[in-house]
Amino acid sequence: MSDKREQFSSKFGFLLAAVGSAVGLGNFWGFPTQAASNGGGAFVLAYLVLAFLLAYPALMAELVIGRYARANVVTALEGVGQTVFSRRLGKAVGIYGVLTASLILSFYAIVSGWMIAHFGQPLAQVLSLHSVSHWLGQDGLLRNLLVALIFMGLTIWIVARGVQAGIEAWSTRLMPLLLAILLGLIIYVLLQPGAMAGLHTYLVPDFDQLTDPALLLSAMGQAFFSLSLGVGTLLIYGSYLSKKESLPRLGVAVTLLDVGIAFTAGLLIIPAMYVAQHHGVMIYGDDGSLIAGPRLIFQVLPSLFGSMGVAGVGLSLAFFALMTIAALTSSISMLEAPVSVIIERTRMQRSRAALVVGTAIFAISVLIVSNMNPLFDFIVSLTTKYSQPILGLALCVYAGWVMHRNQVLKELQTGHLGVEHSLFWKVWPFYVRFICPALILLTVGQSLRG
Ligand code: TRP
Repeated sequence: MSDKREQFSSKFGFLLAAVGSAVGLGNFWGFPTQAASNGGGAFVLAYLVLAFLLAYPALMAELVIGRYARANVVTALEGVGQTVFSRRLGKAVGIYGVLTASLILSFYAIVSGWMIAHFGQPLAQVLSLHSVSHWLGQDGLLRNLLVALIFMGLTIWIVARGVQAGIEAWSTRLMPLLLAILLGLIIYVLLQPGAMAGLHTYLVPDFDQLTDPALLLSAMGQAFFSLSLGVGTLLIYGSYLSKKESLPRLGVAVTLLDVGIAFTAGLLIIPAMYVAQHHGVMIYGDDGSLIAGPRLIFQVLPSLFGSMGVAGVGLSLAFFALMTIAALTSSISMLEAPVSVIIERTRMQRSRAALVVGTAIFAISVLIVSNMNPLFDFIVSLTTKYSQPILGLALCVYAGWVMHRNQVLKELQTGHLGVEHSLFWKVWPFYVRFICPALILLTVGQSLRG
């Protein structure tokens, strides 16, 4: 089976796929609003530090385990265990990971569906399909189901095509497009009246807020979500990476690009909010803080576009295309986690596995859409606040304690000659064994108390 196993065709294929996974709604939505309401530039700085001190070492744990084992997360963690206990536990952690990835996808598909709806709305308007446009713009059960189904269908279709023809091909097409749209939108928005006030809020650091431990903890959670950590998505992408490539370097590139794009997204979102305010749109909630969450994306920005005439139609098409693309290159990585487990552990074919798993996940989305009120927030916190850090901890333990130091070093040396003399090897093994687990325990403990 190992000769048949698919691989990314080059390190750029891997890089675009991994950055595609990392760059998603978390970058365009979570990061900018958290930054704007938590001390602006100071938060950006803290996030940068945390991403490198905590998320990057955990990301490396996933890449090392994945490429060493050349297998999906369940088989990989089971395989690196040396005792019956660590093998069984590894298998259980892997299963918990892919279940978490599946649950994340079940709510991610709903939110991404909304992006499709808001993309379709101006499009239908341009095509003079006014009643369709109106229907797409209204929150409704049927609409939400239809757009989530379209999104899930696209995700399944790409994953069914495989690593190179599906994941890599689409990430390589979509990520440059994403960057082009993002830069175009930033230039346009920054030229509008009001934008500079937004830049000010976003970038001028207020260091006082940094002393708040809750803020650092939420920055850490944001970093975990944004880098797709814990659930085996980067592990499986790492397992498709050629042995010729350097893991520490590619890991740094993924982290830098993810953080860089989150930062760049802030240059669009926060100034856009202040431009909206200039146009008379309310951008502060009742408690005086900047509007975040769904109301930012689906009310504030659409009201802004609505007040800008023809330019607004173009802007909203571009903006929601950007969001849909960002979401799609992330959702395929989530679906690949369970699909890779099924195809490597049973005889099921990839296309069938993608369809079966995707349909099952969509069934959960249907359940959530029909019971939005208790279910949505519950599943978001269960997966991102608790499961992801706990799984991240388990992966650090597997890379730091369960795998032998020599196995780890050998894996790192493949593709990176002399890694044993690098700063990385001086710091990371200690980090992944002690610092990461301790910091993650602290986060989880804090969120359990909160
Ligand atoms: N990182 C993506 C974002 O920022 C979402 C994502 C992709 C993800 N794969 C994941 C989140 C796995 C958690 C786990 O939107």
